[in-house]
Amino acid sequence: MSAPRRVTPRDFVKKKQRGERIVMITAYSYPQARIVDAAGVDGILVGDSVAMVELGLPATIYVSMKEMLHHVRAVARARPRALVVGDMPFMSYERSRSEALRNAAAFIRAGADAVKLEGGAEVADRVEALVKAGIPVMGHVGLTPQRFLTIGGYRLMGKKAEQAAKLLEDAKAREDAGAFAVVIENTVAEVAAEITKRLRIPTICIGSGPWCDGQIIVLHDIVGLTEEPPYFTRRYADVASVMRRAVESYVEDVRSGRFPGEGMYRRMKPEELEAFRKLLRELDR
Ligand code: KIV
Repeated sequence: MSAPRRVTPRDFVKKKQRGERIVMITAYSYPQARIVDAAGVDGILVGDSVAMVELGLPATIYVSMKEMLHHVRAVARARPRALVVGDMPFMSYERSRSEALRNAAAFIRAGADAVKLEGGAEVADRVEALVKAGIPVMGHVGLTPQRFLTIGGYRLMGKKAEQAAKLLEDAKAREDAGAFAVVIENTVAEVAAEITKRLRIPTICIGSGPWCDGQIIVLHDIVGLTEEPPYFTRRYADVASVMRRAVESYVEDVRSGRFPGEGMYRRMKPEELEAFRKLLRELDR
């Protein structure tokens, strides 16, 4: 049987035109990519949230290009049907267009189908340069966690009319620069709804309400691997408890001698065992 056709950025735009909801999720490793792809998502984001959920760092700004590429390679090796988007980390695209191009190309060579960049109008020239070079770009407006120091924390965005209008302008700048989709993070729902209405490209929301073209979520938050998940997520499973119980059973079994059990190890043939014992007797003499 031939492999199913892979999802492309064009498919995202067509889904919006057809009114079909787009589903994205994060994944950072080979097994995670296989699992989420088998579940039928349209897109996998190798997010810089890997910093917190996998690497134990305090914020996304501490993850490097090298670390991001390592995770993109692992996800791409799973050969998912879903579109793989690599998240460009802090300071990999801010300084210059040429640096943005070099780093985005590294993501594509590592197996990503597209890259995501945070920011609005101020990064439009970089988005344009990448698209011109043939690299599909996903925008990211609203709360942009790589700027949490200047924003003053992880705040809900667009509560005030002027800020809401600026968010709309940012999203439009991304569309005009050639992005194929835009993530809207942690804004009041009405702002995300208005952006969704006014853009031709799809909006993929996280913590920005239901009136968007699609949703994205952090895998660890929905499977119970995050200690304090945000209010806008839903826990569908408690994988942490399942894993812990499995390891507790293993610990118990090793300590009590029940592991490894019958059938979990191979024995020597009797004639080889006899020969081995003979050798040992000679050695011990
Ligand atoms: O890194 C990430 O997980 C993200 C999502 C929150 C969109 O950027």
